[in-house]
Formats: sequence, structure tokens, C-alpha cells
Amino acid sequence: MDIVWHSAADHSYCALVTVTVRPIGEAEWPDFTALHLEAFNASSPPEAVERWRGLFEFDRSLAAFDGDLMVGGAAALSFTMTVPGGPVPVAGVTAVEVLPSHRRRGVLSALMARQLHDIHEQGREAVAALYASEAAIYGRFGYGRAADSLFFRIPTHRSAFVPDAPVDPALRLRVARPADALDDLRRVFETVRPERPGLYERSEARWRYDVIADEEYDRRGAGPLRCMIAEDAAGPRGYALFRVAGKFTDHDVPDGEVRLAELFATDPAAYALVWRSVLDRDLCSRVHAWSRPADDPIVHLLAEPRHLNAGWLDDLWIRLVDVDRALASRAYAAPADLVIEVADELCPWNAGRRRLITAKGSCERTGDPADLTLPVSALGAAYLGGRPLTPLAAAGLVREHREGALRELSTAMSWEPEPWGGLVF
Ligand SMILES: CC(C)(COP(=O)(O)OP(=O)(O)OC[C@H]1O[C@@H](n2cnc3c(N)ncnc32)[C@H](O)[C@@H]1OP(=O)(O)O)[C@@H](O)C(=O)NCCC(=O)NCCS
Repeated sequence: MDIVWHSAADHSYCALVTVTVRPIGEAEWPDFTALHLEAFNASSPPEAVERWRGLFEFDRSLAAFDGDLMVGGAAALSFTMTVPGGPVPVAGVTAVEVLPSHRRRGVLSALMARQLHDIHEQGREAVAALYASEAAIYGRFGYGRAADSLFFRIPTHRSAFVPDAPVDPALRLRVARPADALDDLRRVFETVRPERPGLYERSEARWRYDVIADEEYDRRGAGPLRCMIAEDAAGPRGYALFRVAGKFTDHDVPDGEVRLAELFATDPAAYALVWRSVLDRDLCSRVHAWSRPADDPIVHLLAEPRHLNAGWLDDLWIRLVDVDRALASRAYAAPADLVIEVADELCPWNAGRRRLITAKGSCERTGDPADLTLPVSALGAAYLGGRPLTPLAAAGLVREHREGALRELSTAMSWEPEPWGGLVF
């Protein structure tokens, strides 16, 4: 595929380049990983790169070539992801990278266009999802910011719970080695996964090479991956995976940090107990938790929630590759019957008007006048149920032509719990 050179003034120091885009073969894996390490300024050891191969789907990879030189890459993974109402196939977009010598010449644009066309033609998924390294990159390709995640830095001495926090005397805590506890972790995760939009099915490789990976490289200066399980006589009900960065002050005062990697529980009492197991960790003065859902109940459990020291980040970005199929394949929180006009330059098959009737689960082309006009990125943002359309309209990104249509669609697309991917891919 040839790419079009746009000679904006700030790009004028770059030379014109023509690239071809195609999937890579297994023999090209070393070039692909070398490109990845260069683009991401990464220094992963060969073992970590090899693990990544176990998660890769070669026939869904793409690379851009300038002559013989591989200058860009992008890949898709075949996921099953929970959306409002249940699981659907989703293309998980990853390994998006361009060689620093070839940046800002349209290589990413060529890769994104080809990838979206491929996903559409393959027809398996109507939706694509990704995590963005930088939030400014993907809106132009029709992705919408669909989920947020929170991070916390909790001082353990200010971590008391509210008096009526749930307690179940049947529960006990168990220290486990993550690799030995995989069945327990899976059991808890699989109970939670169908409920929360954004969580995706984890392959054996995803569990082993990502969730519980524990080489020196994975530890980033902290200790080994540790696991606390909350269980009763019937089995596991919650777990925390974390590392401890052990530290003492100059005066020999314990000052360790718990770095919480993931925490899931099937019910409130198990959830509270697993959190206590990390907040009460001896010799530690802080718990640093990242990538927590935007509606994490810890916000309500802590007696002094201002000591969460919370911050937020964009989590999953969603792109409707086939708008009609995507809208027909999720559930809705309230009835809606309206005509939506979608703008989508990159995927012209999506552009135009369709009638969504949630009671029938149908979304079909129509010539009727539009009740709402919006870019495909706004529908992607709202798709998982965590981004009301009303503020997007207030920001001027959605236009209402029939009074009440905005609230009707916004309410119908909302969902609880909040969406959250839980694990960067
Ligand atoms: C981000 C990256 C893939 C962009 O590739 P690229 O080939 O330079 O992108 P393009 O030339 O196709 O850019 C297309 C448009 O996106 C803009 N853009 C690209 N990267 C951007 C960024 N990081 N922030 C803001 N805008 C960006 C370009 O300015 C251009 O805008 P324009 O059409 O208005 O001129 C590349 O810089 C890279 O590999 N970065 C390091 C790895 C990384 O972060 N990958 C993304 C992982 S999620």
C-alpha cells in the first residue's frame, strides 16, 4: 500500500517515503522485535521477547516496509471481551510502532487504515480495542476513550476501613505461590469477567507469560510476585497479586511499598479482606495500586478516602469497525428508538444513517432524517457503557436534531459496572 505524503510545515524536514504494508512471517520475528525495542526505547531481555511471541498471532500482524527495511508494525489479537450484556469477539490492537527515522510521515496512518480494513474484511469482530501509549494518537483513527482507570498511593497508617465494612468469619487468608495458585486465580477471575465490560478472556499464555510472569525484568526493582488468596471451605473468593519493594529509612524505620498488580474478588467480604491483606502488610508504609476500575469499591471502604491519593488515566480505547453489527450485539440499559448519523472517513462503510431499536436488538440502514449526528469515535467511547454522550455533546462532539434524542441514547448506552480492561495488552 502506498501512503500519501502530507507536507505540513512542521514535517518538512522529513523526506518523502513510500511504504508497502503486509503481514510478517515467523522468520521476520527478529526484525519485528528489534523494531519494537527501538520504537518503545525498551530493553527487554531475549526471554521476555520470546514470551511475547507466545501471545502473538502472525497472520494478524502487519509491518510497513521502506524498501527492504521494516519501519512500522501493528498487530491484532483475537479476544473475547465482555460488553454490556455479554461476551463478543474483539480485535485487541497491540504492538503499534514506527521506527524513529520514519516517524511523522504517515506510516502509522497507513498501518491503521490497512488494519481496520483487514478486520472488517475478515468479519470476525465488529469492534477493536487498544491501550494507548499516548492519548492523542488514536482519536483520529476513530477510536474513542471508552474507559478510565484509577491509580492510588495509600499510606497504610491512614487506611482504616469504615466501621460497617463487611466481614465474613468463614473467610481465611492463604499465602500462595502465583504459579501454584493459577487454578484459584482463574476461578475467581472467571466469576468476575462476565459482569464487567472490558474484561477479556485470558489464554493460558496470557496467564503464564503476562499475569504471573516473574523474571528479574518483570520485578522492576521490587521483590518477587506474591499472592494472597481469600477463601472459605468451598474454595477461593478473592486474590491479590503484588510485589513488595522492601526499604528501610536511614534510621532503620521500615518503609516498604506494596505494588499491587491485580486484585479480584467475587463478593464484598472477600474483596475487603484481600485489600486488608495488602494494606496491613508488615514493614510497608504505602500501597501503590495502578489500573484499578473507575468504580473501585475501595473508594467507599476507606474511612478517609482523600488518603487514596487517586489519579486517573485513560484505559481502553474502543473503535466500532462495523457500527451496525456492534450496536446490535450489545445490551442496553433503557429502550431507545432513534436514527443515528455516523461520520467515519476511515471506514466509509460505517458512514450514514441507521435506525437503532434496542427492544428488537436491531440497527439497520435508513433514509429517515437523523435524530443525532456523531463521529464514530463518540460511539466507541460510549460503547462499553462508561462514557455518557451528554458531556460529549456539551463539548460539541455530538449534535442533537430531535429534542430528547441525546438523553435517550446516552441513557440506553450507559451500564454498570464501569468498563475496565484490567490488564494492558
Ligand atoms: C506513535 C507512533 C506509532 C506514530 O507513528 P507515525 O508514523 O509517526 O504517525 P503518522 O505519521 O501516521 O501520524 C499521523 C498523525 O498522527 C499524529 N501523531 C502521531 N503520533 C502522535 C503522538 N504520539 N501524539 C500526538 N499526535 C501524534 C501525527 O502528527 C499525524 O498528525 P497529522 O495527520 O495531523 O499530521 C510512533 O511515533 C511510535 O512508534 N511511537 C513510539 C511507540 C508508541 O508509542 N506506539 C504506540 C503504542 S499504543
